[in-house]
Amino acid sequence: MQKKKFVVTPWEVSGEIDYEKLIEEFGVEPITDKLLKRIKKHTKELHMFLRRKFFFSHRDFNHVLDSYERGQKFVLYTGRGPSGHTHLGHIIPWIFTKHLQDVFDAKLYFQMTDDEKFLIKPELTLEQTIGFTYDNALDVIALGFDPKKTKIFSNIEYAKTQYKMALQIAKHIPFSTAKAVFGFNSTSNIGIIFFPAMQAVPAFMAQLFEGQNERCLIPCAVDQEPYWRVARDVAPKLGLHKPAGIYCKFLPGLGQGGKMSASLPETCVYTTDSLEYAKKKVWNAFTGGRATVKEQREKGGIPEICSVYHWLYILFEKDDGKIKEIYRKCKNGEILCGEDKEILANYVNKFLSEHQRKREKAKDLLEKFMVRD
Ligand code: TYM
Repeated sequence: MQKKKFVVTPWEVSGEIDYEKLIEEFGVEPITDKLLKRIKKHTKELHMFLRRKFFFSHRDFNHVLDSYERGQKFVLYTGRGPSGHTHLGHIIPWIFTKHLQDVFDAKLYFQMTDDEKFLIKPELTLEQTIGFTYDNALDVIALGFDPKKTKIFSNIEYAKTQYKMALQIAKHIPFSTAKAVFGFNSTSNIGIIFFPAMQAVPAFMAQLFEGQNERCLIPCAVDQEPYWRVARDVAPKLGLHKPAGIYCKFLPGLGQGGKMSASLPETCVYTTDSLEYAKKKVWNAFTGGRATVKEQREKGGIPEICSVYHWLYILFEKDDGKIKEIYRKCKNGEILCGEDKEILANYVNKFLSEHQRKREKAKDLLEKFMVRD
């Protein structure tokens, strides 16, 4: 049977994504067991996102490890396009980045592309996207990054610092390449056509601004990969290292299939949702359950299509034994969807209450992290 068509670009993710195919299409490398073994040597425990293959592909992570093993540090770079509140999908690459910062003692550049979101969202003003930069930065800080090793910046407020570098990058990207990679056409505004040069800048910041010959590793979901493809093409022309990347899949929404998307807010959990509201969303989630309890007991559920199971597997149930048990019980009809939802609702509740407390505290720490011109 032919799979439905899917689309993955920085601005659109839709359809049923075939990640194997995406590896081919994007020309990235799968994360093999051999690479996992190598990572484990450094991290002791493999992070759950790697164990469960949620981070599934990379570019040049091997090279980053080669130089790290020779005693050369690397820097991390990740970011957010602040067009609204942060949802649980966004924080997955950040949780992983924090883990990498801890394990490899790495500096982090965190770019807030309030310029990008202003340019692509007709309804948003500059004041609003800058406002979301500061709102979303609280989520980043709440995850526990080290203020001594982390710089967060709004592109609009840090444009002067980045602009010279962006110009040098932009000069080497023909419009034909930008069109082919990002799908620009004659109706695209000219701001967004220049923008990929801005997103590339932090990948080179350590080499340029701190005189360090350090490689850069970018953890993010795979939708951002087209930016790095272009940045990697340009790097040798500027005498710089190509940025490396490590890419995750998408946390699905609580609806039927599809990535978590702000256009379906009932199927996303935002870090700012009240505990009650988040619980309600979990209770309304799409599951792989059968029409009746009797049928469920007889035939078992279908965890493969269940958003509740996916959330437990990807984000919340860290214990490998327990997640296996949930899968088994669901398949055998020993557990009903209500019980699974209860487990997830408890995890979400615990996460949100802790995160929201740390988010409040983060307000006092903002200035330790933010840099601007
Ligand atoms: P944005 O705001 O679309 O997304 C922020 C980060 O979250 C990832 N992501 C997801 N990960 C897992 N599950 C999901 N459902 C999900 N949805 C989004 C994105 O891949 C991203 O890592 N242009 C960027 C901002 C940016 C950036 C960067 C991101 C600037 N520099 C460097 C990563 C790395 C953007 O709009 O991200």
